[in-house]
This record gives sequence, C-alpha cells and structure tokens, in this order.
Amino acid sequence: MIKTTSFPEGFLWGGAIAANQAEGAFLEDGKGLTTVDLLPTGEKRFSIMKGKLPSFSPLEGEYYPTHEAIDFYHRYKEDIALFAEMGFKTLRLSISWARIFPSGDDAEPNEAGLQFYDDLFDELKRYNIEPLVTLAHFDVPVHLVKEYGSWKNRKLVSLFEKYARTVFTRYKDKVKYWLTFNEINMLLHLPYVGAGLVFEEGENEQQVKYKAAHHQLVASALAVKAGHEIIPGAMIGCMLAAGMFYPYTSNPDDVWDAMNKDRDSFFFIDVQARGEYPGFAKRFFQENGIELEMEDDDEEILRENTVDYIGFSYYSSRTTSTDSEIQQKQTSGNVFGSVKNPYLETSEWGWTIDPKGLRITANQLWDRYQKPLFVVENGLGAVDIPDENGKIQDDYRISYLSEHLKVLKEAIYDGVDILGYTSWGPIDIVSASTGEMKKRYGYIYVDRDNEGKGKLNRTKKKSFEWYKNVIKTNGEDL
Ligand code: BG6
Repeated sequence: MIKTTSFPEGFLWGGAIAANQAEGAFLEDGKGLTTVDLLPTGEKRFSIMKGKLPSFSPLEGEYYPTHEAIDFYHRYKEDIALFAEMGFKTLRLSISWARIFPSGDDAEPNEAGLQFYDDLFDELKRYNIEPLVTLAHFDVPVHLVKEYGSWKNRKLVSLFEKYARTVFTRYKDKVKYWLTFNEINMLLHLPYVGAGLVFEEGENEQQVKYKAAHHQLVASALAVKAGHEIIPGAMIGCMLAAGMFYPYTSNPDDVWDAMNKDRDSFFFIDVQARGEYPGFAKRFFQENGIELEMEDDDEEILRENTVDYIGFSYYSSRTTSTDSEIQQKQTSGNVFGSVKNPYLETSEWGWTIDPKGLRITANQLWDRYQKPLFVVENGLGAVDIPDENGKIQDDYRISYLSEHLKVLKEAIYDGVDILGYTSWGPIDIVSASTGEMKKRYGYIYVDRDNEGKGKLNRTKKKSFEWYKNVIKTNGEDL
C-alpha cells in the first residue's frame, strides 16, 4: 500500500517554553522588572491581567510564582540535556526583553543578559537543537509601563525595534527562526498580559487596545524588516492564539457570529501576513470611532514586511451562539472562554479537547494565508500524581498529544505546509493563566508546588519515552 501520510523530512519536532514561566532569577544579572513579574497567584491576578488593577512593584504578602519559576536560568544545561535525550530538533523559548534592556529605554544593552542567551544558544548547538525564539512572550519592562503607558505609546515601537535589532545582531549566526509577539491577539482579551496596558478611569478601552495593537503591528513589521536585513536566511513569523469558533447551530446568525469572532483574531494575522488592514476592520474602526494614529509610512512598513510563516498555539476549538440561553453554558479556554460544545469533553481546567479542530484550524490558516505554518504550542494541562514508585503514568497526556499529532499528519496530507511542532511546556512550568504549578504540561516532572515548595528536581514521566519515540520515528509511531 502506498503510504499517504507522513511528516516531511526535516520536520522540526520539539517543545516550547517562555522566559517568565521557566527562567526565574527575575532580578538576577541586571534584569529589570517586567509586567509578568507582577502577576501574583490568587484574587488580584485576573484584575491585573485585564489592566484593571495597576501594579508597579511586588506587593507584600503576595506570592509571585514566576520569580523563581523552575529556575531554568540556572538549570538550563540539565534541562537541555533531557530535551536532547528526547531527540528535540528545536526548542522554542523567549528572550526576556528586560534582561537585554532592563528598563526598556536604556542607551546600552545589559551584557550579562546578552551573554546568558549566548550561552544558552551554544548549549543548544552542542546537541544540534535549533532555537526558535520569541521576542516578546507577554513581557514588557515595567519601566515602560510607568514612563510611557506601555504599548499605548508610539515610543514603544522604536524601543522594540532597537531591542529586536540588538538581539538579531548578537545572535545572527545562532538563531534563524524567530517569532515577534506571542499570541498577539491576547491583547484584546488580557490587555496587561498582551501589551502591558493599564487602563485609566474613564479611558475608552477599545480605542486604547486597537491603538496599542497598531503599535505592535508596526513594531512586528519593523522587526521582520530588521531580521531580513541582519540575519541571512532568517525566518521571522507571527504568532496567533488559534482555535476556530464553531457556530452552535446552522442558524445564519450563529454562523455569522462565529465568523466575526474568528475575525477578531485574524485581524492581527491579516495585517502581519497580508500587509494591510482587512476591510472588516476598517468598517469596525469607523463604526466604533476608533482612530489608529497612523504615521505617514506605516502602511508601507506593514505592506513591505510581512511574515515568513505563521506560528500558532492550538489547545481547543471554541463555540459560539447568539441564543442568550445557550450563551449561559460557558466553558473556559486559552485566552478566552466560549460556549460549551456538547460534542466534546473538556480538560480539568475546562479547556475543550478537540483534536480534529487542529486539522480544521491548520487548513483554515493555510487557506487564508498560503504561508507555512508552525504549531508552536499544543498540549494538555493536567494534574500529575506520582504512583507508588514515584512515576507519573500520564497516559491522558499521551492520548491528547497522540490524537492531535494524528490529525496534524492528516492536515499535512491535506496539503498544508507545516514546518514543525513544539508542544507546550515539555518540562513543567508555571501556568500563564492561573500561575499554578499544578497545571502541568511536561514530559519532565518538576518537583515544585503551587506554594513554591519542592526541590525543583526533574524526573521523567511516562510521556518522555513516548515523545522520544515519536521523534525517532518522525511521527510514524504515535
Ligand atoms: C498560551 C501561552 O496562552 O498558553 C503560554 O502562550 C501558556 O504562555 C499556554 O502557558 C498554556 O496556558 P496555561 O494558562 O495553561 O499556562
């Protein structure tokens, strides 16, 4: 029989982490404070994330899980050796902007910060692991929030460009794959997380969010430009929190609503991949009195510096309804919740589990943009309990990942160009939404709990061997 589906040669298998959720060492070697350093666990967290509760320094009596995180800053060699043992071809990680420019607007970069990532990339090189680097994974130096109002202010565009040019120049021989802003559509839902936005009393929040979005989009395009100028063969991508909206029924109102909800997110990628604001956005701006404060050459910058590929996270599909009764049946999800899909199960955190949705989403993105895709996040956040021998038998995680990889293979056979797959949190890290350690994604268990207790020891879960074999067989054994 002819083999119809397989992953292409050179497919980039690996895992993905973010500086603030893994590194810890939050003020070490000259690093400045960043927005995500100010997210405590507990009650205040969500209000801060929404930009409703200002927070400019750590508060007495609050616990900030990212301050130590899993101490990747000091233990990265041990962790990378484990990733190499699984056969990783790539590791997605982010650079913390404030390690390079502690205040964000410093005249000179912090050499110790630059050196840290130099050493990290060298370590990856020892194992032939290709770095895939996100420039901004939810972190803005806090000084920029205080001084300029973060991405509300046009000033951030040039500061970000300077940061991007600095790291591109420094790592041009070490890093080829880059992403500009992690889950850029996050800005609309958790504006402090996505863009460091803190709203003032009486401020028009929608206006502020789209103004900030425009600044990020211009900054992203300028980073693409800089990357292409500085790094030979650079691949600079954008990153979307993906997962399409299904209409709850075939009622055209539901279908239209689902389409519009998808467009809230596509809005960003349309600009980054096609180089201009889509018609639906222009209408939306006009009808809602939103002004972007375009500068003269912004349109040209956006048009001429589109991304090379589209990175996306996929955890769940979403469902929407225009029926107010059905709208009551909500479930949570990555970035934002949605109506509960009656056909699908959810995770312990209420995130919808929908492997086929990954195939649908990949096809949808490919049909829309015709640019290579990269699945840069996918996985199951679950509670892991060691058995009597101290081993985590995470068959639930294996099953989740295996089902998603099976459909990803189908998407490739559908004709979708997919560069690689990095599952989220290959080693347990701090949860971005809740700050918990208990919500684990890893193949590697980290001994640390929600209160920060534990020795931070690393141990292999059952899924470790499973993923190792997936990579070894280039996805033939799933
Ligand atoms: C994405 C983020 O939103 O989902 C990651 O890019 C995050 O930073 C991941 O960790 C999973 O979300 P959570 O809340 O389970 O950590």
